[in-house]
Amino acid sequence: MSDAKTAGTATLTVDGQTVELPILEGTEGPKVIDVRKLYSQTGMFTYDPSYTSTASCDSALTYIDGEVGILRHGGYTIEQLAGESSFLEVCYLLLHRELPDAATLQDFEHTITYHSMIHEQMRNLYSGFRRDAHPMAVMIGVVGAMSAFYHDSTDINDPQQRLIASHRLIAKMPTIAAWAYKYSVGQPFLYPRNDLSYSENFLRMTFGVPAEEYVPSPAIVDAMDKIFILHADHEQNASTSTVRLAGSSGANPFACIAAGIATLWGPAHGGANQAVLEMLDQIGHKDNIPEFLERAKDKDDPFRLMGFGHRVYKNYDPRAGVLKKSADAVLEELGVDDDPLLELAMELEKIALEDPYFVDRKLFPNVDFYSGIILKAIGFPTSMFTVLFALARTAGWIAQWKEMIEDPDQRIGRPRQLYLGSTERNYVSPDKR
Ligand code: SDX
Repeated sequence: MSDAKTAGTATLTVDGQTVELPILEGTEGPKVIDVRKLYSQTGMFTYDPSYTSTASCDSALTYIDGEVGILRHGGYTIEQLAGESSFLEVCYLLLHRELPDAATLQDFEHTITYHSMIHEQMRNLYSGFRRDAHPMAVMIGVVGAMSAFYHDSTDINDPQQRLIASHRLIAKMPTIAAWAYKYSVGQPFLYPRNDLSYSENFLRMTFGVPAEEYVPSPAIVDAMDKIFILHADHEQNASTSTVRLAGSSGANPFACIAAGIATLWGPAHGGANQAVLEMLDQIGHKDNIPEFLERAKDKDDPFRLMGFGHRVYKNYDPRAGVLKKSADAVLEELGVDDDPLLELAMELEKIALEDPYFVDRKLFPNVDFYSGIILKAIGFPTSMFTVLFALARTAGWIAQWKEMIEDPDQRIGRPRQLYLGSTERNYVSPDKR
């Protein structure tokens, strides 16, 4: 893409050699030092194992300012999108970088609706799993297998196939996810219905049964759609970076998304929403909060305050703020007036944000802190929380993948290393070791 502007140069002097490195500037956010020629000029690599100071690409999809707590897609704040848009409209925005007009949105919704069924033989994939398999394992398997069923949209060099694959993934994730849940509880699968909206369709396939009609309340449908919007995309996080790296080799989009699901599963990433509920259950009562905060600070104790902290946000995650507000509304709608979990979470947040350890390290609640409380209230088991994150993030993953593939400068990603192993030595037979 490289619409970046050159904004001067950085001078690096190393081993008596001085190199000038271009500084590039985007439309907003930190400038970058272009080190692409550093190795050829100095024989040295940069070193940034967890990419704390590394821009892996340029992108026009999502902007985050972690110091202030800003998240925007295509220039629109997450607060406005969550308040006024729909998940499918945000999907369109991520895929095409502009909000659609009414006719285009209607056409996009129709396209997604009419791709929501999955190949009938994919049903058989589920029965290969144990009923108690974690649904994320099922998601990785079934989504990865999509390339075997939708081979006609795997040619990454064909723009039409790239778009169809994007539509298929966004459209079919709710069906695949709902069926993963149904399989885990031994209930029959429900097919999507074309007269329902995206989130209503998903809720019906998840909680409906053939024996009777299931109509979720508009407030729950709205909350579900808002949760999907809040999880749609988030710059170059671990799972998105996985999708980009997998895609850079030319792997088909279904395999790349399956790789993203695998990365999201980790408790340090998307798996945190499940871990937050397990943590709140472990804490049990607000009287136990001080003990657990001490454990979270203890470097010898693996316990971490799940749902707190973020590599980029050193302020309140704007998504957590939206979720905290809608938690009250959803619980009220469900007649859950005083959910002890929500009360415990809010008390935990209050005490943590008064504790110097968390304040000094700028550890605020992130997107995962409140999402699980709403999802549990709606009726999802904790094992489905990260599946819902993956369902929504598929929009961001595939938009980032498409943006990368369409970048004429795109090459395979191939990082190097700082080698710390043995230098050359001769082989010695086992009897002489
Ligand atoms: C997501 O990247 C994204 O955008 C991700 C995401 C997205 O939308 O894609 O936003 C989604 O993954 C949100 C994060 C969900 N994960 C959790 O809630 C798990 C708990 N959080 C931590 O594991 C941690 O905060 C991370 C993984 C989120 C961030 O880790 P970093 O940036 O590597 O920070 P760090 O581990 O270097 O922590 C800095 C300091 C350390 O203490 P010191 O060594 O300086 O004394 O803060 C401490 C850490 O020990 N710390 C915590 C803590 N998080 C950081 N201490 C207690 N509890 C925590 N949760």
